[in-house]
Amino acid sequence: MGMDDWTTSHQRVLAQREAEGWMFLIEAARDLRTTGAIAPSGNALARALTDPVRTQASRPLAVLEVGAGTGPVTRALIPHLSGGSRLDIVEANPRFAAQLRRLVTTHPDLADVPGRVSVHEMFVEQLDTDQRYDVIVSGLPLTNFAPDQVERIMARYMDLLHPGGTLTYFAYVGTRRARALTASRVEARRHAAVDEVMAAYQRAYATGRWTVWANLPPAHVWHLRRPLVPADSPEQRLAGARR
Ligand SMILES: C[S@@+](CC[C@H](N)C(=O)[O-])C[C@H]1O[C@@H](n2cnc3c(N)ncnc32)[C@H](O)[C@@H]1O
Repeated sequence: MGMDDWTTSHQRVLAQREAEGWMFLIEAARDLRTTGAIAPSGNALARALTDPVRTQASRPLAVLEVGAGTGPVTRALIPHLSGGSRLDIVEANPRFAAQLRRLVTTHPDLADVPGRVSVHEMFVEQLDTDQRYDVIVSGLPLTNFAPDQVERIMARYMDLLHPGGTLTYFAYVGTRRARALTASRVEARRHAAVDEVMAAYQRAYATGRWTVWANLPPAHVWHLRRPLVPADSPEQRLAGARR
C-alpha cells in the first residue's frame, strides 16, 4: 500500500469512528439507561474484553457478544475468529443492530465465510437458544438495571456458557460513588443492590479483574469462569458465595 492509499484509508477509518461516536451520543440522548454510556468503548477496553478469544484463537470457538452498540468490541473480535468459529451478536437497539449488520456484511475477514457472524436484534432476555458458548462478552450497562433483572441476566449468562467457558464484562470506575452523590436515595439503593448481585457472582466465579485507565471513562474489566466440574453447579457456587 502506498503512502497516499494508507492516508486515505486511515482518514476513512477516522471519519467512520467519528460518525459512530455521534450515532452513539444520539442514542444516549434518546435513552441513556439502556445505552449506558455516551461514547463507544475504546481500543484498550475492547482488547481487555476480548482477551479470552485472542488467547484461544487457535481452536474453533462459539462466541456470544451482548450489547454490541456501534461495534468496537465486535471489530476486535472478528479478526480472531478461527475457522469453524462462530459469533452471535445480540443488540436491542434497532439502529445499532442495523449498523452491526452493515459492519458484518462489509467486513473483509467475513467475505468468504458468510454466516459465521449473526446479528440478533432483540433483548438478551428474549434469546431462546440451545447453543452453548465458550466465551460471552457482555457490554450491557448492568448498573442501570433493576437488581432482579441483573440476577436473571447473570444466571442466564452462566447457563449459556459451556463448563470452563468465560464471561467478560465491564463496569465504569466510580459510578456507584457518583450516583450516591448525585442521584435520589432510591436510585442509590438500587445501584447498591445491583453491586451486591454482581459481588456474589464475582466471589463465585471471578478469575481476574483489570482496570483500563485508557478509556473514557476508565473501566474495570471482569473475567468470570463457569466451573468445569458438573457437581459444582452455578446454583451451588452462588449459594456458597452468598453465605
Ligand atoms: C454501554 S453500551 C456498549 C456498546 C459497545 N459494546 C461498546 O463497548 O461500545 C450498551 C449496549 O447494550 C445494548 N443493550 C442494553 N440493554 C440490552 C439488552 N437487555 N439486551 C441487548 N442489548 C442491550 C444497548 O443498546 C447498547 O448498545
